[in-house]
Amino acid sequence: MARILTGIQSSGQPHLGNLLGAIIPAIELSKNKDNQSLFFIADLHSLTSIKEADLIQAHTRAVAAAWLAFGFDIEKNIFYRQSRIPEVTELTWYLNCFTPIPMLQNAHSYKDKAGKLADVNAGLFTYPVLMASDILLYDAEFVPVGKDQQQHLEMTRDIAKSFNHHYGEEVFVIPEAKIDRNVMTIPGTDGQKMSKSYGNTIDIFQPDKKLRKNIMRIQTDSTPLEEPKNPDTCHVFSLYNLLATEQEAKAMRANYTGGNYGYGDAKQALFELVVNKYADQRKRYNELIANPQALEKALQTGEAKARDIGLGVLNRVRKVVGFR
Ligand code: ADP
Ligand code: TRP
Repeated sequence: MARILTGIQSSGQPHLGNLLGAIIPAIELSKNKDNQSLFFIADLHSLTSIKEADLIQAHTRAVAAAWLAFGFDIEKNIFYRQSRIPEVTELTWYLNCFTPIPMLQNAHSYKDKAGKLADVNAGLFTYPVLMASDILLYDAEFVPVGKDQQQHLEMTRDIAKSFNHHYGEEVFVIPEAKIDRNVMTIPGTDGQKMSKSYGNTIDIFQPDKKLRKNIMRIQTDSTPLEEPKNPDTCHVFSLYNLLATEQEAKAMRANYTGGNYGYGDAKQALFELVVNKYADQRKRYNELIANPQALEKALQTGEAKARDIGLGVLNRVRKVVGFR
């Protein structure tokens, strides 16, 4: 059995890019009966950027509801909040003592954020050590992540190897990143990568009216209605194409190239596609958000299981470092 682990920060509302790029492919992977998946909400990591308790909680519920609405099986797998497993912070300390400062200074994500953010705190700097701890605490073998996280995974491997080498024992399992080169970057309403930091996201869980407005904001060029349009340079078409069946996409392409079909029509078709395709998931999401007790219960089921595994690994570490 392979153990798969991944986390998503609770730093905003989950959007279509998160769903298509991370949540849906991870759930597909978790359906393989030979895998056991640990998927968690990296709420401790989100504290590096979000300091409002209510906001962290709201985002945590939104991210949890998205995973569940898209069918993550929490009986077969393990679903939890990072902050509810205090063992992860103890392990972070041990790993800190095996992490060379220059390794952290070289992290792209830190350098990038340090140049942009007003709040450059030590949590942001040691972020990769907490991430290593997230992975090593559960003997994870495969970690599905986006390309932007590849360097963090390399650091995890280096820290684990250096620890194992020092104590002359295979205390930690050395994890492997699983980066799907085929998962494309989902464009946002302005055509750049869809991202919370660019304010260009599409939140499919909003009520119909707001979702429609959100989709109507997708930027298009000024080709007049009657003229043929190029589907390959249009962000509305790219999104439609990602969600539609082959036949639907073909028909839409013909609408574009045939003329007398406006961008407003294409946006309306995209809106209807999202609403129909994700009708069940949107309904389930809203039911979950309206029932925080059910969400809490779902998370707590996994938290008990995660702690059990984590404690086993942590005891191994406590023993070799000399605290047992
Ligand atoms: P954001 O850029 O909105 O802050 P995160 O960095 O929190 O998103 O990403 C969470 C997960 O969603 C990551 O695995 C990331 O690779 C994936 N993801 C985010 N945006 C996109 C996108 N536009 N296309 C594909 N995957 C994405
Ligand atoms: N840093 C990851 C991101 O921003 C989230 C994350 C935290 C994570 N801990 C992890 C991902 C452990 C995989 C494994 O997307």
